[in-house]
Amino acid sequence: MNMFSDIKSGVIVDATFGGGGHTRRMLDRNGLTVVAIDRDADAAANAAELASDERFVFVRGSFGNLDQLLDAEGVQSIDGVLFDLGVSSHQLDQPMRGFSYRHPGPLDMRMGDGPLTASEIVNEWAESDLASVISRYGEERFARRIARAILAARPIADTAALAAIVREAIPAATRQTGGHPARRTFQALRIAVNDELGELERGLDAALDRLSPGGRCVVISYHSLEDRIVKQKFVAAARTCVCPPGLPICVCETVPQVTIVTKKALGPSEAEVIRNPRARSAKLRCCEKVAA
Ligand SMILES: C[S@@+](CC[C@H](N)C(=O)[O-])C[C@H]1O[C@@H](n2cnc3c(N)ncnc32)[C@H](O)[C@@H]1O
Repeated sequence: MNMFSDIKSGVIVDATFGGGGHTRRMLDRNGLTVVAIDRDADAAANAAELASDERFVFVRGSFGNLDQLLDAEGVQSIDGVLFDLGVSSHQLDQPMRGFSYRHPGPLDMRMGDGPLTASEIVNEWAESDLASVISRYGEERFARRIARAILAARPIADTAALAAIVREAIPAATRQTGGHPARRTFQALRIAVNDELGELERGLDAALDRLSPGGRCVVISYHSLEDRIVKQKFVAAARTCVCPPGLPICVCETVPQVTIVTKKALGPSEAEVIRNPRARSAKLRCCEKVAA
């Protein structure tokens, strides 16, 4: 379902350009200009293919700095914004990026060129901090066992070694459930390395402020931590009253910033999952800016 189909003209921000699939579909529609953002150097290289289209501009940076990035481009208000979160297939499939537990590679996991790497977390952080990251960002119930095993095995050289240590730390009887035993730990490290949840909070706040009336914010998320933030931000922005509970009448005169278009998150169609199995866990939410 195309959440931007009613937007016939104006500026759409693709905050996660990646391979540019969504941007290309937007540019197929004549009235739209796309400001595309990504913090990954490979995404910047992909964007070069579209450089001759005057309705397209690419900005290398993090969407957590959306205000600064758009100010620098002279873009004040926007008519739509898309966040297609997480890592791209391209990033996952490149062992040298260190995102995959299936292929040996360096413990990197950076989407951009920030200072923190997975190696620093795995090889230098205190056991309690490591366990806390794995528990909070991986929702991994064996986080403490995994952190203990990691400390015992230091120094850990690469993703293959880490995946094997995590696998061994998880009780054999539970290894078969929920996919690869290292999946949750790798997710946790990736989120911490890239401050993914902080980026999402800052990016959404800026995006909702910048939308013009009738403009839409669309977010595709891939795990419950992201989806929870999106849902809570949309609900907070759609609130019509913030009076303390118990007041007989509303006195706050709160004006909602948005209306929620997707009352429940939308999942992928079967055809989409067949085309792209990684879309299986995708959840799409959309809200629309209220007229001022
Ligand atoms: C799922 S992919 C997007 C795929 C894209 N929609 C396409 O059609 O090819 C996510 C992309 O978002 C980028 N990304 C993730 N977090 C980001 C952030 N905070 N700021 C900028 N780019 C980010 C990643 O580098 C990756 O290229």
